[in-house]
Amino acid sequence: MTILNGKEIANKIKDEIAAEVGEIKSRGEKVPHLAAVLVGNDGASLTYVGSKVRSCNRIGFESTLKHLPEDTSEEELLDLVSELNNDPEIDGYIVQLPLPKHIDEQKVLLAVDPDKDVDGFHPANFGKMALDMESFIPATPFGIMELLRRYNVEVEGKHAVVIGRSHIVGRPISILLSQKGKFANATVTLTHSRTKDIKALTLQADIIVSALGVPGFLTGDMVRDGAVIIDVGITRVPDESKERGYYITGDVDFESVSKKASYITPVPGGVGPMTIAMLLQNTLLARKRRTQNNR
Ligand code: GUN
Repeated sequence: MTILNGKEIANKIKDEIAAEVGEIKSRGEKVPHLAAVLVGNDGASLTYVGSKVRSCNRIGFESTLKHLPEDTSEEELLDLVSELNNDPEIDGYIVQLPLPKHIDEQKVLLAVDPDKDVDGFHPANFGKMALDMESFIPATPFGIMELLRRYNVEVEGKHAVVIGRSHIVGRPISILLSQKGKFANATVTLTHSRTKDIKALTLQADIIVSALGVPGFLTGDMVRDGAVIIDVGITRVPDESKERGYYITGDVDFESVSKKASYITPVPGGVGPMTIAMLLQNTLLARKRRTQNNR
């Protein structure tokens, strides 16, 4: 069994990006500038956004954090989105999800300039991705594909079972795994809350991607020998014995599943760090495109 060490690969990718930033600087060109919009004080979102901004600083990107109060109106947020679209200094930005309930998420995501949409959530980018055209690919599924590629995991012709059909992970990873390409060409089954017998399907899977957010959902008896296991779940479980008051766990019961898996991602240290690395990769791409267009 091999652990797919996302933390290590993400650090390698960040080093590669930092080297490119060095070259950009030496040519006297602008370095990539990522902005992050956070509305409210959701604990997990604060952690993710903080981590994204710190990573930018580490690799030599410029970064801007726009932290708005929980009671920000939809109109105020749309104004900020418009400001970021028009700000020549910003190469790409993300609006951290979830947004407070009084704000229409779709309306906000539609307002983001697709050329600055480094999360790849705008329908223009999502549609291009689905049609094999160049686009910004959502960071988490992009990170999973990159992890499989860097570990040389065989995907072609395999049966991949994806658990969860979210717009951020399940749906896009099902598209990417089924696309043509050396580390793709899988046969994909996308399962969700209305799927009749998930266990019957996971038992047939060569690759399982679980993006459900239910701790310990996938157990050893649901997995066949030699399966590749990608755990996208990141759930905070309250725990008084921990300094932070919680611990982080995934969808996979690591103890029982790792005994059967050929490859498995840990939580933490698997898919999570890859998400940040690929967001930075998308931001670098945004900057390169803008440099090409003299912007
Ligand atoms: N919330 C959970 N994952 C993500 C992500 O990748 N991007 C944004 N913007 N919000 C998220």
